Amino acid sequence: MNEHPQEARFKRHVFVCMHERAEENSACCARSCGGEVLERLKSRLVELGLKSEVRANKSGCLAACASGATMVVYPEGVWYGHVRPEDVEEIVTEHFVAGRPVARLRLSWPAAGAEQ
Ligand code: FES
Repeated sequence: MNEHPQEARFKRHVFVCMHERAEENSACCARSCGGEVLERLKSRLVELGLKSEVRANKSGCLAACASGATMVVYPEGVWYGHVRPEDVEEIVTEHFVAGRPVARLRLSWPAAGAEQ
């Protein structure tokens, strides 16, 4: 039985930036553990049986490079920044399971360092 409406295949959709900026000294999510964050997130979703309701995908640049690693969670439109692999557990258990976004990691918009 599909517990989500047809138009919303997943309860939440998470986009994790893994973009690598070409400029050597530029901040970017690839150099801020974006790949590791996504891999840990995907693993925890599988381990907790949440894979069918929370979809995690890599994304290109989310225009908040100085706040990497960044992610955005829909449908709420919650942005997280400076996410480290060790933060994933709190995001999963607090936000995705308990429904309480993790305040300490949230970005207000426009984010400091956001690119236009
Ligand atoms: S490189 Fe991740 S937001 Fe730009």
